[in-house]
Amino acid sequence: SEIYLNGLGGQLPPFTTDLTALEASARERLEDGPFWYVAGAAGSGATDRANREAFDRRRIVPRMLRDATVRDLRTTVLGTEMPAPVLLAPIGVQSIVHPDGELATARAASALGVPMILSTASSHTVEEVARASGDGPRWYQLYWPNEDDVCVSILRRAGAAGFTTLVVTLDTWTLAWRPHDLDLSYLPFIRGVGTAIPFSDPAFRAGLDKSPEEDLISAVLRWVPMFTGTDRSWDRLPFLRDHWDGPIVLKGVQHPDDARRAADAGMDGIVVSNHGGRQVDGAVASLDMLPEIAEAVGDRIEVLFDSGVRTGADVVKALALGARAVLVGRPFAYGLAHGGEEGVRHVLRSLLADLDLTLGLSGHRTPSELSPEALRHA
Ligand code: FNR
Repeated sequence: SEIYLNGLGGQLPPFTTDLTALEASARERLEDGPFWYVAGAAGSGATDRANREAFDRRRIVPRMLRDATVRDLRTTVLGTEMPAPVLLAPIGVQSIVHPDGELATARAASALGVPMILSTASSHTVEEVARASGDGPRWYQLYWPNEDDVCVSILRRAGAAGFTTLVVTLDTWTLAWRPHDLDLSYLPFIRGVGTAIPFSDPAFRAGLDKSPEEDLISAVLRWVPMFTGTDRSWDRLPFLRDHWDGPIVLKGVQHPDDARRAADAGMDGIVVSNHGGRQVDGAVASLDMLPEIAEAVGDRIEVLFDSGVRTGADVVKALALGARAVLVGRPFAYGLAHGGEEGVRHVLRSLLADLDLTLGLSGHRTPSELSPEALRHA
């Protein structure tokens, strides 16, 4: 209602409230490197498009004369209370699109009580982001390094900085074929990681002759093999459990058997995700796998979802198909590009307001009232 009332008083939003239009306006604001870093996908972009098409193929069937005038979007996921079933997806090196990067995102998320998931590849240190986030809920995303002492050091710092839930990304054990980034030589990315964890991490720096500030390329060359390779396996999950004092979520799950396996391994949650179509080009749309996965694991493990969420209706659809909450990625990065902290806040407020209205107008008071029955195939 604040957005509506501001409009009535002649105070317009800082930029569009149509989150599906943000990519086009970000294109006008950002240079090629930063724009394609966010907008780009793997290969031909087939999976990125499939993610959106999967949402389009499902339609909400609104119900009438149900009292949904007062809604309650609040939920708790793995012990974290949140005002709505929405989290900010981990996005690396956010300083590529705005100098304040993760600090702006942390402030905006914290002001609304929305959990931020901080990427291992953050352009600000975990301690700086924790300070910016104040009392806000914060989760930490791990790209799992193959040097255990670096891994333990990173986890210890994140835990000490007050990050509660660990999200371990499984689908990016090497970077996919991403033509846009390759054509632009990854330069913006490399500049952006200049101050990132793990570059700031003592255990990482111990393996270098010169500091990353003095010799960035050597730091990158140490980093790449450390975060690539397949030697991390299901059998190694207890190692993470031993070094993390809180819930653990596996991100990038796409097959029901992997979801079952995560539950068998005692994990607390999964994110059904194809990394926004940025890893396996031609992979199935993330939403298309959600019902099967939700069915496969039932209540054994919490099921989160991402890839392609752009509107309140998309959140309603993902929740109806079995997600407990969704992660939103590119839209908030475009918000950051449009106006730092205020831009992220505007995107989040718009998404939450749209979700609230769509939920109510379709006849539901709470997210928990949604089920597959609320949808039909178009
Ligand atoms: C990502 N994603 C990502 N995931 C992760 O686990 N660690 C990371 O550092 C990053 N970095 C990253 C950078 C950029 C620019 C994008 C767009 C995405 C994936 C992200 O967490 C999420 O899975 C997708 O963004 C979800 O898809 P949508 O919402 O962007 O369609």
